[in-house]
Amino acid sequence: MKGTRIILMGPPGGGKGTQAKLLQDKYGIVQLSTGDMLRAAVAAGTPVGKEAKAIMEAGGLVSDDIIIRMIADRIAQPDCGKGFILDGFPRTVPQAEALDKLLGGSAMKIDAVIEVRVPDAMLVERITGRFSCAKCGAGYHDSFHKPKKEGVCDDCGSTEFTRRKDDNAETVKSRLEAYHAQTAPLLPYYEKQGLLRVIDGTAPIADVTRQLEKALAG
Ligand code: AP5
Repeated sequence: MKGTRIILMGPPGGGKGTQAKLLQDKYGIVQLSTGDMLRAAVAAGTPVGKEAKAIMEAGGLVSDDIIIRMIADRIAQPDCGKGFILDGFPRTVPQAEALDKLLGGSAMKIDAVIEVRVPDAMLVERITGRFSCAKCGAGYHDSFHKPKKEGVCDDCGSTEFTRRKDDNAETVKSRLEAYHAQTAPLLPYYEKQGLLRVIDGTAPIADVTRQLEKALAG
């Protein structure tokens, strides 16, 4: 695979997290999910978590300042040296500009931006059926990706699962509005730089992975 600094873009429930984890396992480059970082901050009750909690539950976007600081700290850590997959960041034009500055300052660059394209109509079912292992975080779906043995995590054997608080039909609507209004304008931003590749996120998970690997190799 050519690119080692990758941005995965796409709507809520589009499959970014699922694909980022598969790439991470296969190529050993870390997944940087701002959503996961924020959920960890909420669970730990940090000042960032306290500020983000209500915004996330309402399906809005957390302030650029918080997000940019969080990602700058994370990218500076040694495990990002080999590369990283950005999942859920950048989500606004100021975040994309801040990322350019951040990478430019360390003589790094983004190799590819992949849009996982899925129409809105498919996303509510994807999101409301999602659950994950409470112990290791492995992701599943009620219909599309069940554990091999019902009630037991494939990866760690735990029998405890959780569902996200913002995974309900009402919040999905706000998250989709935020995506179309604030994040979709980034697609032309990256297209102009010749970095954008689009893949069909409506296909089964393994097919999406194949498209992704092809897009990254090309
Ligand atoms: P975040 O955690 O980033 O959520 P999101 O963008 O809404 O994306 P999701 O995690 O919901 O979806 P996904 O694309 O990863 O889909 P998944 O692979 O799980 O952000 C949460 C909140 O944090 C935001 O609303 C905001 O408040 C805040 N935030 C985060 N980053 C921010 C930022 N940069 N700036 C400001 N605020 C920020 O797939 C979904 C389900 O579908 C799963 O169950 C999966 O098994 C299934 N599935 C996946 N692919 C397929 C397939 N091909 N076919 C069938 N099923 C599939």
